[in-house]
Amino acid sequence: MMVTWNTFSDTKESMVEFGFKVENLNMTASGSRTKFVDGGLEKHTQYIHRVTLTNLIPGSLYMYRCGSSYGWSSLFYFRALPSDPTPKGGIRFAVYGDMGNENPQALGRLQVEAQNGMYDAILHVGDFAYDMEQGNGTVGDEFMRQIETAAAYVPYMTCPGNHENAYNFSNYKNRFTMPMYEEVESLWYSWNIGTAHIISFSTEANFFSSQVVINNQMAWLQKDLEEATKPENRAKYPWIIAMGHKPMYCTWNTGVEDCAKIVGITREAFEDLFYKYGVDLYIGAHEHSYERMWPLYNNKVYNGSMDAPYTNPKAPVHIITGSAGNREPQSILLPPKSFTAFQTRDFGYTRFFILNSTHIHAEQVSDDKGGQIIDKFTLIKNQHGPEAWL
Ligand SMILES: [Fe+2]
Repeated sequence: MMVTWNTFSDTKESMVEFGFKVENLNMTASGSRTKFVDGGLEKHTQYIHRVTLTNLIPGSLYMYRCGSSYGWSSLFYFRALPSDPTPKGGIRFAVYGDMGNENPQALGRLQVEAQNGMYDAILHVGDFAYDMEQGNGTVGDEFMRQIETAAAYVPYMTCPGNHENAYNFSNYKNRFTMPMYEEVESLWYSWNIGTAHIISFSTEANFFSSQVVINNQMAWLQKDLEEATKPENRAKYPWIIAMGHKPMYCTWNTGVEDCAKIVGITREAFEDLFYKYGVDLYIGAHEHSYERMWPLYNNKVYNGSMDAPYTNPKAPVHIITGSAGNREPQSILLPPKSFTAFQTRDFGYTRFFILNSTHIHAEQVSDDKGGQIIDKFTLIKNQHGPEAWL
């Protein structure tokens, strides 16, 4: 488990004290810190501390605090991930994008659920704070304090969105510590959990970064997918789930021609690659809506069968979940397209549960409707990989 925090002065040390009991935090881990200067005029400076806790006992509840002899955080807790890849209730996620410092509608419910141990991980699919660099980075500071009440209790896994692009994504790269942060500053990475291989990548590279970065990411994606689809790996982690901020399809419009034009750039860059390796589920955000689509490839709907479209579907399933709330308006409702299974502009977020190697269950929570589940679906596959498309 990686613990990341910031201090505004250089405290010289980065320590985590942890243990099984509040009165006995008998284990200590130390890490490192880096100086982060925001790109704004005031050169707002802080120190980002990172400590990795290793040799954790799967499923155990740990108490911890972070800091140093110069001062300590509040006491927090987390549960180490289970060793059983198919625990009762599945591996449980909350997933959303587009959460701001102002009007983070879904946050209150997520804080309670994260603290209550309802999730094994939270996935934030890009667009944070609106924007972290604003106020010389102080909006980012405030946003991190807001999400601490969820992110200190459960792994908070991220990918960059367009709102992170200032100063070459510096606030994103510095504030979050994802797998591969040392190599590519958390812009892309993959990890395995339960029966799933999860790929997080930057759709924004193709809008804001140099050709070198675009090429590096594509080469990494290709290599990662090749590795993940080797028979021995896919047998262990049959589900391949990709998350990137911008969707590949949508029927909404946030003011510009998103669904007509912008998503096409993402689709052209990544869709063929994901189809080729049999990616099962693509999670996007960016549109301030929730939209569930029929299995889709190359603008065409590929149902498994008419009465059970999510049973052995013939193409990846796409969802958009960008409704966590921010200062911008929700998306405008446009008529559904042929690929639309469900759409809503209610604020909210998605829960999904990887039950085992054949079943994923997902549900959409509406904050407008007091936490009511307004959509759900089960993705059933007894064959994974590109051969499943045949
Ligand atoms: Fe966005």
